[in-house]
Amino acid sequence: MKVLILEGGARRNGNTATVTGWIAEELERLGHELERITLQDKNIKGCLACMKCKERPDEVGCVIDDDAILILEKMVAAELVLFTSPLYFWGVAGPLKSLIDRSYSLYIDYHQPTHASLVKGQRQALLVTGAGPWENNAEATFTAFNRLQRPHMAVKAGELFIGRCASPEDLGEGVKSEALSFAREIAAA
Ligand SMILES: Cc1cc2nc3c(=O)[nH]c(=O)nc-3n(C[C@H](O)[C@H](O)[C@H](O)COP(=O)(O)O)c2cc1C
Repeated sequence: MKVLILEGGARRNGNTATVTGWIAEELERLGHELERITLQDKNIKGCLACMKCKERPDEVGCVIDDDAILILEKMVAAELVLFTSPLYFWGVAGPLKSLIDRSYSLYIDYHQPTHASLVKGQRQALLVTGAGPWENNAEATFTAFNRLQRPHMAVKAGELFIGRCASPEDLGEGVKSEALSFAREIAAA
């Protein structure tokens, strides 16, 4: 399976990158073709809400000339997309949020009978790490993710929240085994 991992975190050896690394290793071990993109390194501007993309439904029609176009094209080509991020103020980190906003250009006519999407049927999964617990903290992020598949016409492949994260050194074998199971779950077509 062609897998694209879109990483919203900035810390290369942080909690999210560590868990993402375990997931990636397991996906590779299972024979999947992987690409990882650190969004923090890319130039991804915010959506302009200009609606020009809706005039070009057969391609990534966004008119902003930055790195998001190529990333969105890679997203269209992927069979599974894994979004990963630290939890920042009850949401995903800025670079990932900007990319998700730009994915507005991947579909047309949401809520209409003519609704169509360039990522129709694609599997999508989310990994988030946070310092706090799930309750009163992570729910909003996962609610938003669970709704994202509607306009995208995608399929939810799985979600994982690793809470009470202090530092990568404290992520024990329990978290690693959760990460490996998660990898197997999201890739099971
Ligand atoms: C700007 C900022 C906002 C944060 N907001 C939250 C939050 O709302 N909830 C939470 O549980 N942790 C929050 N945290 C903690 C991080 O989500 C947590 O430490 C995470 O595991 C860090 O991941 P990283 O090591 O990959 O950067 C925040 C951290 C930062 C820097």
